[in-house]
Amino acid sequence: MLTPQSLVPLALVASLSLAVSVPRADAPAPAPQLEISAASLTSKWIEGSDFVQIIEATIANTGNTTWLTRADDLQVTVSSDSVVTVSPGTLQRLQPTETAAVRIGVKNKAGVNPGTTCDVTLEASWAGGTTNFDISGPCGIGKFTATEGSLETHSTPDWFDDAKYGIFIHWGLYSAPAYGSITPNEEYSEWYWQHLNNPDDATQTFQYHKETYGTNFNYDDFVANFTGKKFDPKAWMQLISDAGAKYVVPVTKHHDGFALFNFPESISKRSSVHMGPKRDFIKELLDTAKSQFPDIHRGTYFSMPEWYNPAYARYSDGGSFQGGPPVNPYTGEEIPYTGYVEVGDFVTGIQRPQMDVLAYEYETEIMWCDIGGANNSTLMASAWLNWARDKGRQVTFNSRCGIRGDYDTPEYSSNSGIVERKWETCRGLDPFSFGYNYVTPDDGYLTSEEIVQTLVDIVSKNGNFLLDIGPKNDGTIPQIMETNLLGAGKWITAHAESIFGTRYWTRSPGTDNVRFTTTPDAFYIHLFAAPTGAVAINFPLPLREGDKVTIVGGKLAGKDASLTKNSDGTFTLAGSTAIAAADQFAWTFKIAYES
Ligand SMILES: *[C@@H]1O[C@H](CO)[C@@H](O)[C@H](O)[C@H]1NC(C)=O
Ligand SMILES: *[C@@H]1O[C@H](CO)[C@@H](O)[C@H](O)[C@H]1NC(C)=O
Ligand SMILES: *[C@@H]1O[C@H](CO)[C@@H](O)[C@H](O)[C@H]1NC(C)=O
Ligand SMILES: *[C@@H]1O[C@H](CO)[C@@H](O)[C@H](O)[C@H]1NC(C)=O
Repeated sequence: MLTPQSLVPLALVASLSLAVSVPRADAPAPAPQLEISAASLTSKWIEGSDFVQIIEATIANTGNTTWLTRADDLQVTVSSDSVVTVSPGTLQRLQPTETAAVRIGVKNKAGVNPGTTCDVTLEASWAGGTTNFDISGPCGIGKFTATEGSLETHSTPDWFDDAKYGIFIHWGLYSAPAYGSITPNEEYSEWYWQHLNNPDDATQTFQYHKETYGTNFNYDDFVANFTGKKFDPKAWMQLISDAGAKYVVPVTKHHDGFALFNFPESISKRSSVHMGPKRDFIKELLDTAKSQFPDIHRGTYFSMPEWYNPAYARYSDGGSFQGGPPVNPYTGEEIPYTGYVEVGDFVTGIQRPQMDVLAYEYETEIMWCDIGGANNSTLMASAWLNWARDKGRQVTFNSRCGIRGDYDTPEYSSNSGIVERKWETCRGLDPFSFGYNYVTPDDGYLTSEEIVQTLVDIVSKNGNFLLDIGPKNDGTIPQIMETNLLGAGKWITAHAESIFGTRYWTRSPGTDNVRFTTTPDAFYIHLFAAPTGAVAINFPLPLREGDKVTIVGGKLAGKDASLTKNSDGTFTLAGSTAIAAADQFAWTFKIAYES
């Protein structure tokens, strides 16, 4: 007699025997065990949508053995009196004991005002299970009020998280002397004026200035030198684009108070528009960016205080930001603060109006404040965010406006591991200066390799990288900066899919010479050392049988690579001299999820 088993067509038997993970009929694979471990109604909407609000939820695979795969068809939706699901959250793969973020797009039901506090139940369902999670918060994209509590519910838009790499530009009066000593410590050249006023400062700027310009040459006299004669906004933006960057943040006004943008004469005439070259360099640059480089987001650096503004004296911090008027450091004699206009209160008379100009007239997307201190930022930011929202634009501000801000800004430093609150490292190509410092030798600058590896490292930990250039006084960009940026830019462009729009792997950024980045349907491995032979990777990589593993970027881009799981749970990536020779700076491999 034929057993039922022997009736199975041969072809099916063959395919079953190939698919090693298919369970036997008498022992069905257990369904994955999932939970929603956290969720929130965010201030973000899906870019380009009609305010489809994003709910972020964390899915945890709490089981020990069963993976979530595409076949499980995970869908996260909402059940609520106030909102409906527009786009369900999905997740293609999740290993046991791992977590990952999903986003659910929702819209308010008719009659529910944007920003109303309401209750939402998230429902996750997949083949073999369901689970719920209750949250409450603002439903819809509402208005912010001028309180820190309200503004703390704002978060960085997704475009900022996707953009990863920006170019910072420090260019101003300090670009004329372009000096900071490099021993015993390297010093910020853009702090020239502050250093000048401190005879004992380690930068020796006091002595240097006397020898170079004489004791009667005041800092503001550099206005005559700051010509910008060769400033070419198109060339600057082309370089930024070729560098592979996705946003630009020029300094609009540094601590010396000398601005590079325009504002009413009734508040100040201290700018390149009102004196010196009589040009609005910021407008020229941002207009060029907007019209010719629409994929590059536009930010603005803005110093909240001014070292020597007479109106700042009442807000003195007792340290560097003491207010003015300035003095000649050699004679102690009071000197004019060029372009100063009596305004009464610094914060309401100059600071806030200038920030408003950048927000509404220059339409900045990133208010990159510096220093903090006395501020009107709850008023400024709430009004600006509400205005931008009405225009359908998502904007952001950093942690240095005097209030918490959307993201943190480690300076010339990074994080040693993943930090979940959005952050951005800023630093110069110079080993320790944002403004151009002619004393720095060419071999001191970040190399292309260092730029690439720093970027990949930061991205693997949830950061962005804002890398600074310091143009020269005349508007030209030092050759070494251009060369090193372009070298890195070639790599970044060729490996873009493994950087832009990625998210960190919740399990680990990697270690030593390996880093990881992820997308919904792929996982990227970056090696900082040339893989000339077998490379051991001691992390539980999300590799399943049937996945396609390929090389990203370089001369072998798109070619298959071999990644195998060892019996002890570690992995081996097969390198070779050919693979090593096909790329430089970082070697990237992609696991494309096939199930
Ligand atoms: C997972 O393993 C741990 C320790 O081996 C055990 O205590 C736990 O009950 C297991 N959980 C499930 C869901 O099987
Ligand atoms: C700036 O101008 C002064 C006076 O005109 C001149 O002596 C000096 O060399 C100039 N410095 C630079 C860096 O151009
Ligand atoms: C910013 O301004 C607010 C309101 O005046 C104040 O409470 C806060 O301390 C200021 N921030 C800093 C860093 O001084
Ligand atoms: C901020 O603005 C309000 C209202 O104009 C004002 O009363 C307050 O003093 C300002 N804060 C600072 C630190 O100047």
